[in-house]
This record gives sequence, C-alpha cells and structure tokens, in this order.
Amino acid sequence: MSGKRILLGVTGGIAAYKSPDLVRRLIERGAEVQVVFTASAREFVAPLTFQAVSGREVRSDLWDESAERAMSHIELARWADLILIAPATADFLAHLAHGMADNLLSTLCLASSAPVAVAPAMNRLMWSNPATQDNIARLRARGVQVFGPDSGSQACGETGEGRMMEPADIAAAAFAVLPAEGPLKGRKVLITAGPTRERIDPVRFISNRSSGKMGYSVAQAARDRGAEVVLVSGPVNLCAPAGVRRVSVESAQQMHDAVMAEIAGTDIFIATAAVADYRPANPASCKIKKVSDKLEVCMERTVDILAAVAQRADRPYTVGFAAETNDVEQHALAKLTRKNLDLIAANEVGDNKVFEQDDNALLLLWPNGGRQELGVGAKTVLAAKLMDFIAARFLERASR
Ligand code: CTP
Repeated sequence: MSGKRILLGVTGGIAAYKSPDLVRRLIERGAEVQVVFTASAREFVAPLTFQAVSGREVRSDLWDESAERAMSHIELARWADLILIAPATADFLAHLAHGMADNLLSTLCLASSAPVAVAPAMNRLMWSNPATQDNIARLRARGVQVFGPDSGSQACGETGEGRMMEPADIAAAAFAVLPAEGPLKGRKVLITAGPTRERIDPVRFISNRSSGKMGYSVAQAARDRGAEVVLVSGPVNLCAPAGVRRVSVESAQQMHDAVMAEIAGTDIFIATAAVADYRPANPASCKIKKVSDKLEVCMERTVDILAAVAQRADRPYTVGFAAETNDVEQHALAKLTRKNLDLIAANEVGDNKVFEQDDNALLLLWPNGGRQELGVGAKTVLAAKLMDFIAARFLERASR
C-alpha cells in the first residue's frame, strides 16, 4: 500500500472503538490515512485518538472554514485512492445508497471517483432488515465493496450477523481493492499450490502432507509486486491471499484442466503444488467393503502439469519446485532439464521438514549452471525473495 491514500470514514457505531487499530494497520502497510468523522462518530470516539494514530487532523465538518482553506472537500475527494468507511452504520449506508450529501463524508463519497468500500456494523436485526439489505444491494450494484459483516456476539448482547469485520481483515480487503503497483504490474502469474486428492471410492482418497503455505506465500508475494495472480489450489486450510483469484480443485486432472483454462496470457507459471504422481486406475463408484484380508489398488500415472506447460509453444517463464528427501541438487537438476524449465526451486523434505512447517530452505537452479541459495527462513520471507528473483529474471528476458 506504499504511498496509497486512504480516506477512512468513521460513522457513529460502537465498533468505532476498533477503528484506531484499523488506522494503524493501514499505516503499517504503507498507506497515508485521512480520517473523516460523521457528527455521530464523536459520540463514540474522540478525534484526538485518530489524530494521534494517523498523524493528521480529523475532518468532520463541511462548513469548517479553516479546514476547507487548507484542503477543500473537493480536493480531499480527489486526494483519495480509496474511500473506506468502517464502521458503516445502517443510517450511513442509507445515506450513501440514496446519494445524499448532507454531511462531509457523504459529500466526499459523491464527489470522488475513487473506489468506495464499506464495513457495515450494526445490530443483527438492523442488518437483516429489508431496508438495509435493499441499500446494500443497491450499493453493491454500483460497485461499492462490502466487507463483512461478521457473525458473533454483539455489543447489544445479541448474537448474529452484523459485527464489524476485524481491523486486520479490513486492512487486507482494502489492499485487495486498491490497484496493485510493482515490477509485475500488468503481468499475469499463474500458481499451483497444495496437495491433490485422488479418489479411491466416494469416501476415500490418496493425498499428501502439503499444507499449501509455500504456494500461498508465493501468490501473496506476486500480488505484492503488482501482478494479476491466479492460484489453482488443491484442498488446504488457508484463506486466499487478498487480491488473488483462487480456483479450487481436488485431483491432479482437475488441476491440469484448471491450469490449461488459465494459461493463455500467462507471463509466469510457478508450480508449487504437490501433485499426486499416481492415482487409482479404477476408482470404485460405491464404498469399498472390507470383504478380503488384502486390498490392492492399481495405480496409474497422472498428467505432469508442469511439463505440459513447459512444452507449449506459448510457454510462460516456467518455474518448478523439487521436493526431495535425498541428493537434493542432483535430483533437482535432472528435473530442470527433463521438464525443460527456466528455474527450479529445490528443498529437502521429510519428517519435520517443510511439510506443515512455517520455515523452509530453498536452492535455486537454472539452465547453464546457474545456482543461488536463498537460505533458511519463514516461507513468507523466502517467497518474497523468490518472487524478486523470478521478477528480475523474467523482466530481463522480456526486455531482450
Ligand atoms: N508437478 C506437476 N504435475 C505433476 C507432478 C509434479 O506439475 N503431475 C510439478 C510440481 O508442482 C513441482 C515439480 O513438478 O513443481 C516437481 O515435482 P516433484 O513431485 O518433486 O517431482 P516429480 O516430477 O513428481 O518427480 P519424482 O516424483 O520422480 O521426484
């Protein structure tokens, strides 16, 4: 969010006590934040708190002459790259849906061409009321992004839908709405991640221990460098990184088909998935019963997705991963050549190594003897280093 300007509207709801934390999280991500209050916000929180965390005086009055002289509301509307309203009360949503301009915040929303996002917060019955739902539908149809609300216990003592999303989640969602900047802006990066599941019968499958953490970190790093990112993912326990489009699959064949459906226009392909190499040749259509002492499952090869991409005439810059338990470099080099890759990232796997862990160690190898160690570190840190390396090599090749 480096250098992005966020106009944070705070309206009069009890969830406003969480908004200073949101300001901090946006600033931590590099954004500049200007807070604008509605009159009722002052009933819940003090402007001084927001001034202290944002480093800017809070604006709240359309008729404040000295503030208007410093930056008029029209200039303020132009200044914003994003208008984010958190919390957004039922009353403010109604104002916004009807294009009213009777206070500074709603006037700014009308006078700005920046994207608008709202994080509603209200009692569950106010949220489910058809009037509020009509307003939300109207706002969505106009392109307003609606973050949440979450479900859970509410300040009023009731439980249900209407809690404001947590500040960290709002900050991540806001990041996704902003147009991405970086060296990979305008480039498409396609990534596979996670394990695959190969069906034995309707209730059983063969899979592996991949958690998807490395692939998801790589997807986040690619998006942070400005790329349009598509993540073709096997079943994992992770949320899609903000701003990344996820396509969920189960089997190797489905992963292959999803990759091929997305490959056109792809600049960089990164295969981090732990794809099953074999699958049951004849999956049973009914649950297999334990009638004999032994059960033999005949397996057949799955399609190699990475090799299939690298064979294409319109091949993108193609990166593979090699997960090895022994002779890491030797096996990785063989894969680099056999699969015709531009780069391979090798790591050692085994008991207590890599799978389901937050840390990893990567060795990069590329044709004609290229070699670089990225060292040991958190998967998120290694993913950032790896994406910097890939972006540099890809852009160097593209400029030739
Ligand atoms: N891969 C793939 N499709 C497959 C198998 C592997 O796209 N059917 C990709 C993986 O995502 C990884 C690379 O190929 O980027 C290497 O995977 P790995 O399992 O280490 O190698 P294999 O080709 O399966 O070779 P082996 O099992 O003999 O080590």
